[in-house]
Amino acid sequence: MEYVDRHQGGERTILVSVSVQLLDDLDAEEFALLAQSAGADILEHIKVQRNKPNPKFFIGSGKVEEIAEQVQELEASLVIFDHALSPAQERNLERILKCRVIDRTGLILDIFALRARTHEGKLQVELAQLKHLSTRLIRGWSADFEQQKGGIGLRGPGETQLETDRRLIRVRITQLKDKLDKVQQTRMQGRAARQKAAIPTVSLVGYTNAGKSTLFNILANSDVYAADQLFATLDPTLRRLDWDGIGTVVLADTVGFVRNLQHDLVESFKATLEETLEATLLLHVIDSSSHDMLDQIEAVEGVLKDIGADAPVLRVYNKIDLSGEEAKIIYAEPHVPDRVYVSAHSGQGLELLQKAVQECLMGQIQKFSLVLKPAYGKLRTQLYALNVIESEHYDDAGLLHIDVKIAPHKLEKLIRQAKLPLDEILGEHASQFKRPLEEFEIKGDIS
Ligand code: GTP
Repeated sequence: MEYVDRHQGGERTILVSVSVQLLDDLDAEEFALLAQSAGADILEHIKVQRNKPNPKFFIGSGKVEEIAEQVQELEASLVIFDHALSPAQERNLERILKCRVIDRTGLILDIFALRARTHEGKLQVELAQLKHLSTRLIRGWSADFEQQKGGIGLRGPGETQLETDRRLIRVRITQLKDKLDKVQQTRMQGRAARQKAAIPTVSLVGYTNAGKSTLFNILANSDVYAADQLFATLDPTLRRLDWDGIGTVVLADTVGFVRNLQHDLVESFKATLEETLEATLLLHVIDSSSHDMLDQIEAVEGVLKDIGADAPVLRVYNKIDLSGEEAKIIYAEPHVPDRVYVSAHSGQGLELLQKAVQECLMGQIQKFSLVLKPAYGKLRTQLYALNVIESEHYDDAGLLHIDVKIAPHKLEKLIRQAKLPLDEILGEHASQFKRPLEEFEIKGDIS
């Protein structure tokens, strides 16, 4: 299955933003940017207000007629709705508008298809597109689709699979899942080897367009693709760095976050955030010049919480050349940086960023003396696999005393996940982990 390169044509597109409450201009602006990054040539952006969705067309039938006139007048070949539409709504709209209609999910998947670079990313996008497509196989308006190969929403598997039946799609989905499993296993092995060597991983996360790839390039002194387009990064990209005072660090770039990502989309792309889940430190890159900054911060930190990312976060306020802020580090307590202000473009604050990352990582690795009963052998095996044991000996009572050097959050996670008593194992260190047990959600397997 071939993926088409960046779309050049500029498909003649009408956008429709529908809002149930007062229309938020920022959302409409972001939607237009998304459509542009998929290669849409925007002829008109129609904003519709509704109290509740119409089951047949999502918007009212009068409005549909109005849009149909515009489609004819402007010779549009595509209408994109900034909402999830049901397959039936898409069909009904296509019948009246006499052109292709895609919804927000279709648009985002299309952007993902354009951006996917690694084998795993491509497989994931194809899988998600096929799942989305399998509910939309019967189209009302299909006569002209054949001539529009490679258009928005038809890229990736779209053009070849549209006319095949659901059974074939199911077979393909199964094949893709098998392939993905294999690719993921290989990636896990790479990660296990890194953990064993106790190399800290620093992951860049952030809202789309915040400047992650630009910062990544500077920090890694590499040339990972950075562009003024949403979602320039789909797959985690890893670089191994040697930083003064810290030693070897793995830096990971990740896919940009966006609001209103449907739950199944989040699921499909969760694997692209695996590096984030395993990170020693998260750098949350923020566009400090965006009017929407606070909502973007909330959206990103909400998703991080949802996927169970519990590593410490250093907020990096980027683009201070635009927001006019000073380059600085704000400390939560001495030597514990909370945020840092930088500009990837002008270079202001980049040395502070490196200092802050160093301080965060230094604070990460601590020495602990543990006492394990014979029954807690599994924990010892896990610590051994992580290569963090400095020394160990048995006392007369048969208890195993182990000295480890490990990030506190990692140790806490291991002990809690094994459902072992913190107090008993950590002794006086236990008071360091003051959070009540119920606050600590255990997600995923960290063996
Ligand atoms: P996604 O891949 O969409 O998640 O984006 P990203 O967060 O990786 O952003 P990227 O690095 O592609 O940067 C987005 C745009 O912001 C590009 O046009 C960058 O040149 C620009 N940019 C990044 N950092 C700065 C900065 O410090 N100042 C200014 N003025 N622009 C910046």
